[in-house]
Amino acid sequence: MAAEVLDALKPKPGGRYADGTLGGAGHATSVLTASSPTGWLYGCDRDGAAVEAARRRLTELFAGRFDVRQGNFADLAAWIPAAACDGVLLDLGVSSPQLDTPERGFSFQHEGPLDMRMDTRQALTAAELVQRASPDELARIFWEFGGERDSRRLARALANDRDRRKFETTRQLAEWVERLSPRRGNKTHPATKIFQALRIAVNDELGSLKRGLEAAVNILKPGGRLAVITFHSLEDRAVKAFGRERTCEYACPGGVDVPELRQPRVPEMRWVSRKAVKPGEIELRENPRSRSAQLRVLQKLSVATVCDRRS
Ligand SMILES: C[S@@+](CC[C@H](N)C(=O)[O-])C[C@H]1O[C@@H](n2cnc3c(N)ncnc32)[C@H](O)[C@@H]1O
Repeated sequence: MAAEVLDALKPKPGGRYADGTLGGAGHATSVLTASSPTGWLYGCDRDGAAVEAARRRLTELFAGRFDVRQGNFADLAAWIPAAACDGVLLDLGVSSPQLDTPERGFSFQHEGPLDMRMDTRQALTAAELVQRASPDELARIFWEFGGERDSRRLARALANDRDRRKFETTRQLAEWVERLSPRRGNKTHPATKIFQALRIAVNDELGSLKRGLEAAVNILKPGGRLAVITFHSLEDRAVKAFGRERTCEYACPGGVDVPELRQPRVPEMRWVSRKAVKPGEIELRENPRSRSAQLRVLQKLSVATVCDRRS
């Protein structure tokens, strides 16, 4: 979604941008190119290997125009000054190098350790979570983060079986799920939802997203734009809920929306477009993994913009 992100952020020379999910620095490169010769980029990723690769790539092309670090985008406001940025990008989920590197343990297509940590300095791995979480906790994770309908049965069976054998590798777990929930003609592997759920839990992805959205608003200048690319409905729901709250022109006392009790307030943001932007046909053909991507764009309002909108 390179063109769509550029259209959302509209990078310009002298502008300051933050990319909270550097990955392979694809979007970072196009933002710095479009804001040449003086645009600046703050960048981070939880994945140390991604940050090193991004740093090498950006140094070749844009030396002196960026500051990149390993870290969670939830902490962007701890190192980027308030109201410093014209645009912030969060391109959520996992990268192709993460999925395609068996040692990272994100995919059951490859045999590897049951790891799934984006930041390998973190202590909790998927294997530990599977081994230690209570059956109730596992059921909640499978249901809430994977939408797995059979969450209780699978969680109970896993808690029983893990006393006899340790779940240490991706294939071991995938084959175990397949034995309990045979495909029955279904094209999707039965372990897909379980793997998604464990990954989201191990990396606290939804907690980070909530804090990351707050941080993004903090570091945006009035008039600056926030672009978020989501890959599944839980992320998209969180972005929509955040946008709804920040664009709302009234407050609800006590957190309950009773129309008679609504109190007018100045919204902090506006939706740049009401509908999510989806990848075009060419991108879908070239990169089938982009099929579930959705881009949503919000703009931080200045007081003047709010007055214009009301007049
Ligand atoms: C889809 S890839 C990003 C690809 C990148 N935009 C590019 O152009 O190459 C997602 C990246 O976000 C990172 N990530 C996910 N959640 C994160 C978080 N809370 N903080 C920082 N990085 C995160 C992952 O480690 C991964 O490298």
